[in-house]
Amino acid sequence: MRSHYCGDLRKEHIGEEITLMGWVHRRRDHGGVIFLDVRDREGIAQVVFDPDREESFNLADSVRNEYVIEVKGKVRARPQGTENPEMPTGEIEVLGHELKILNRAETPPFQLDEHQQVGEDVRLRNRFIDLRRPEIQKKLRFRSKVTHAVRNYLEENGFLDIETPILTRATPEGARDYLVPSRTHEGCFFALPQSPQLFKQLLMVSGFDRYYQIAKCFRDEDLRADRQPEFTQIDIETSFLGEQEIMALAEGMVRKLFKELLDIDLGEFPTMPYSEAMQRYGSDKPDLRIPLELVDVNDLVADVDFKVFAGPAKDPKGRVAALKVPGGAELTRKIIDDYTKFVGIYGAKGLAWIKVNALENGAEGLQSPIVKFLGEEVALKIMERLGAQNGDIVFFGADKANIVNEALGALRVKVGEDLNMIEKNWAPLWVVDFPMFEELEDGSLTALHHPFTAPNCSPEQLLEAPQGKLSRAYDMVLNGTELGGGSVRIHDQAMQRAVFKVLGISDEEAEEKFGFLLNALKYGAPPHGGLAFGLDRLIMLMTGSSSIREVIAFPKTQSAACLLTDAPGEVSASALRELNIKLRKTP
Ligand code: AMO
Ligand code: AMP
Repeated sequence: MRSHYCGDLRKEHIGEEITLMGWVHRRRDHGGVIFLDVRDREGIAQVVFDPDREESFNLADSVRNEYVIEVKGKVRARPQGTENPEMPTGEIEVLGHELKILNRAETPPFQLDEHQQVGEDVRLRNRFIDLRRPEIQKKLRFRSKVTHAVRNYLEENGFLDIETPILTRATPEGARDYLVPSRTHEGCFFALPQSPQLFKQLLMVSGFDRYYQIAKCFRDEDLRADRQPEFTQIDIETSFLGEQEIMALAEGMVRKLFKELLDIDLGEFPTMPYSEAMQRYGSDKPDLRIPLELVDVNDLVADVDFKVFAGPAKDPKGRVAALKVPGGAELTRKIIDDYTKFVGIYGAKGLAWIKVNALENGAEGLQSPIVKFLGEEVALKIMERLGAQNGDIVFFGADKANIVNEALGALRVKVGEDLNMIEKNWAPLWVVDFPMFEELEDGSLTALHHPFTAPNCSPEQLLEAPQGKLSRAYDMVLNGTELGGGSVRIHDQAMQRAVFKVLGISDEEAEEKFGFLLNALKYGAPPHGGLAFGLDRLIMLMTGSSSIREVIAFPKTQSAACLLTDAPGEVSASALRELNIKLRKTP
């Protein structure tokens, strides 16, 4: 057995006889002396082999990177001038007495400190080696600390950890389902849960009062840096609490995690209505670290000759918004062209701009492709509304409101990052007062959250005019990432029926899909609500990672494959036959 972890050795161990077990991180030959950097979970220690002990010296000379070894030796101070202040173990070294090779290793596909030279695909294919890198080890250990602290917090607050099924029925969270064929029920499929939503509501009906689970969720959706097909939620549900109480519990948890694990005081989270977030930031998850805002100019441009602006300004679903960037007049044509391409990704047809060179000279002092279309008076009124000053640039978006919001909302974040405008490290907030429904292109309505979210009105009021109604949902946002979200749920049947009606879900369909939940609502369902955090996203933010793949031990690629195991894979004809599945091969 080891006596110490390599990374734990310090000055106070000097003189001790110790045993280490670990991997050869690096071997160096220094004029007749062999140095092995031995690595384990806790760090790296330097072990020295002298030629005096011939057997171990020769063995040390023969080892290669990533060999697994056992070393017995004595801790001593490093000779003066050779200490390494960069290493936690840099003041000491181990004089190796005995060396045993526990296992050999072939030359790894990449050296740990050269991981940047290989593509992510090579690293993912050899993830077991990639996971040896101290940076990743640190992140996964941090993740373990977070889940431990989460459990402590929730248990202290009376929550019970209850598992819910993975082989189940579709949960409507807005993504496609992963399906699993049933052998025993021909032609039938399980769906993997998009979240434990329905089960946690049933647990409330059963009287558990406070539930939590660190739960795996599965969603077949387009992937991005902060999305994986399989991810983890900190899932929470409570009975008899309103939104304020649920939000306070959840906020308390996140604040405690930041304080305990990072010594960061997030302070009280501000609350912002959804409509304000869209208006000022073009996003329902605004990054409040960036001091730029969208400003409406519809009223100022409704009557100009420039159709690009006047059209959307007069359209009830349109929006013309301006984004003032202080000091942005220095941006080159090339950068503006790049930003124009960037907003194009979000469907914007162009990106009008005005550089404010010399406001005192009126329109003459404004450099822009559109001032001639707007006219001096309108252009100056816009400048006045924005409080523009010499040296600023103003960008414009004009289109359907959702396109303008997405395009300028994303541009706001990009420009803020490009120009180093990030003002603080952490900007948490709650977004509340979401609309109950969202209109699809065909005019039908869909639930903005999920169809079990309680509206902020009676069933009659909802049926009368569903469109403008707000829900009792809330999202927690941190630095522009949606960290978690939830709602007070519907606990009475009449309300649930009204919502299904608005969504165009027929009684039969509702019965078929969620009959078990509707049934449960008949038998004494308490008022209840909850929320779920994306654990991977939380860890990504807390560790300053740029993707959730960096904080998941075995992540999938952007195309939802596991390169390590080569999943998904084909299955044998006999397995398919047993499942009664016939593949339709595309010719
Ligand atoms: P929602 O769908 O908002 O709510 O999910 C909750 C949180 O889960 C995280 N998340 C993801 N993380 C990584 N990859 C994904 N593909 C992914 N999708 C979502 C986000 C998100 O905020 N049942 C409800 C919660 C409730 O109402 O209680 C739900 O699942 O951080
Ligand atoms: P055009 O007259 O189409 O050349 O456009 C004049 C300016 O308006 C150019 O700078 C375009 O990038 C910009 N523009 C065009 N369409 C839009 C739009 N929908 N929103 C914002 N700017 C636009």
